[in-house]
Amino acid sequence: MRLSDRQPGRPALAGWARHPRTGGAALRIDIVTIFPEFFAALRVSLIGKAIARGDVAIAVHDLRAWAHDPHRTVDDAPFGGGPGMVMKPEPWGEALDALAGPPAGLVAGAPARPGQPGAGGSRAGRGPGPVPGSGAVRGSGAEPAAAPVLIVPTPSGVPFTQAMAAELAGGAHLIVACGRYEGIDSRVTEYARARMTVREVSIGDYVLTGGEPAALVIVDAICRLLPGVLGNACSAADDSFGAGGGPMSGLVEGPVYTRPRVWHGMAVPAVLLSGDHGAIARWRRDQALRRTARNRPDLAARLPASALDARDREVLAAAGFAAGGEDVAH
Ligand code: ADE
Repeated sequence: MRLSDRQPGRPALAGWARHPRTGGAALRIDIVTIFPEFFAALRVSLIGKAIARGDVAIAVHDLRAWAHDPHRTVDDAPFGGGPGMVMKPEPWGEALDALAGPPAGLVAGAPARPGQPGAGGSRAGRGPGPVPGSGAVRGSGAEPAAAPVLIVPTPSGVPFTQAMAAELAGGAHLIVACGRYEGIDSRVTEYARARMTVREVSIGDYVLTGGEPAALVIVDAICRLLPGVLGNACSAADDSFGAGGGPMSGLVEGPVYTRPRVWHGMAVPAVLLSGDHGAIARWRRDQALRRTARNRPDLAARLPASALDARDREVLAAAGFAAGGEDVAH
């Protein structure tokens, strides 16, 4: 979405609809980026429906709305030299103040200064305007807001995991800061740490063009765990990695099949047609153990002995792993 497509004073994508039962979305996510249009993908599929229902409130904000020079500059040359540009701290500091409330000592809810986002500056339509739900209170206005968690996608962050997605899905307010170029001036996370938890996270050992694709991945992984987002309440429990301690805990999922029973001469494994739920569960676990040993020996090596029964150990041993997941074949 181009900025000019937006209504003045509205975030590029907003899902601030009140939840019919709870009176407010369970989770609020603010995404700050210089490419708001990147997040149009959140409008589709299960996350789009969750936004429409009010199960999650997502607003996407253009960082440049908090840059005040005529060119709305957000980057500058790195101190100490080197290639590339670094994102300037000032727009980020203002964005965090607007979305999380000002730091202690400043009055929450004080009117924005003229020219600041939310103050109806001279470039109507470019700023995000007043941020619904921001400030020191949330919901009805009585209870103090929980401190937001600031998520900064970066290749130098800690690995993003299913367990982290589950933890973040249990929060109330997330702010996602999408960096570009060589990254964001380090003082921004220092500034944020004084009043919120900061999680610098990497989605994998490769470098993307910026934080936006990683932010999409992170937001998707979190939102699909919110109550009501997946049609079948059990499907998250059966996920690969199974953060909730379900049958797939520490494992990747095995193969799946649907109709027809025979396709190009290949038949669906007979056990899946047997109606024997115990046998099917055992077969699925065997397959998950084998696939984990083959594709993710790092995970197989970390399986705790206490989580493995005799059959698990047999399957793992046949795949080259000793009891407890220790790799004996590699
Ligand atoms: N930004 C660039 N590369 C990234 C990665 N691998 N994970 C998270 N954020 C990133």
